[in-house]
Amino acid sequence: MTAIKYEHIKTCKQSGARLGKVHTPHGTFETPIFMPVGTLATVKTMSPEDLKQMNAQIILSNTYHLWLRPGEDIVEEAGGIHRFMNWDRPVLTDSGGFQVFSLSDLRHITEEGVHFRNHLSGEKLFLTPEKSMQIQNALGPDIMMAFDECPPYPAEHTYMKASVERTSRWAERCMKAHARPEDQGLFGIVQGGEYEDLRRQSAEDLVSLDFPGYAIGGLSVGEPKNVMNEVLEYTTPWLPKDKPRYLMGVGSADSLIDGAIRGIDMFDCVLPTRIARNGTLMTSTGRLVVRNAAYARDFRPIDEACDCHVCQNHSRAYIRHLIKCNETLGLRLCSYHNLHFLLNLMEQVRQAIRDDRLLDFRTEFFETYGFNKA
Ligand code: GUN
Ligand code: ZN
Repeated sequence: MTAIKYEHIKTCKQSGARLGKVHTPHGTFETPIFMPVGTLATVKTMSPEDLKQMNAQIILSNTYHLWLRPGEDIVEEAGGIHRFMNWDRPVLTDSGGFQVFSLSDLRHITEEGVHFRNHLSGEKLFLTPEKSMQIQNALGPDIMMAFDECPPYPAEHTYMKASVERTSRWAERCMKAHARPEDQGLFGIVQGGEYEDLRRQSAEDLVSLDFPGYAIGGLSVGEPKNVMNEVLEYTTPWLPKDKPRYLMGVGSADSLIDGAIRGIDMFDCVLPTRIARNGTLMTSTGRLVVRNAAYARDFRPIDEACDCHVCQNHSRAYIRHLIKCNETLGLRLCSYHNLHFLLNLMEQVRQAIRDDRLLDFRTEFFETYGFNKA
């Protein structure tokens, strides 16, 4: 019995993109999918009802943050993360590996684990593969991630090789320490930066451990878009066809389409919710910075092509006013629209795969959207 099962539905004849379903203990989600990020067991400003209304099928949360606050023991006592936050659909947690590297500047990596300082209190902490597994077993998500190192871009080949090898040894320790394989699926994370030989070594090491799913990490860390696309192009063929593939930390509209074309099934990113909170909106014609004075008397919706409740009921002028005044409702409305935009985009991507026309869809999308806008 494995907790996670990938059901392949079809491959797009035009692009090679995959249409599938992932079955979890808390139900099924369709792929390719975008996962909204709820770092602290909340997608910032969105209630579970909001998330269901916009058709979110799975959300992501973070081991590191929940370990510090409120502590995994409290989440466990509540009955796990689903009960704690009253979300009965699938949840994935990241392992803390990436957060330790992105939030803490004082850190020391050893074979055993990572020494670093709490980004809130400065207190000394130590995270290991075993500790990350223990926390994720207590939090109880459907999918948990192996504890990895996400090296900066660029990194020397010598450094990257040592890092990839350590990440493989950590992945094996994660597998051994994982206490609930029957109802939680553990995914391995392929690293290796922009080095083809190291991506291959990493993929082979992890595939030999037979995880129920695989992520590609260490991307969207400052490298050019074409580097990410190349890495995806050669890495996905090394991963098993009957397991889900997850591209970590990627959430711009163009990268979601380009990732799906290269065989990616799952994506997550703070981008839509983070930019929403400073009044930047993703629309069918590119990014719209609603804070700008140009929108002070603009009574049209954020996106005329969007059917979300924000665009049905509120104007750019009103939302601009709320954001300028730092009103909570402004943050909520912008977050809702941006998440709806990406979830809807992925629904369109799935339909285009069904119709064997994802490359045509990409061309049509970029005609109105423009490149590199959001
Ligand atoms: N989130 C974005 N990139 C990464 C990565 O490389 N590793 C982990 N654990 N999380 C990520
Ligand atoms: Zn909208």
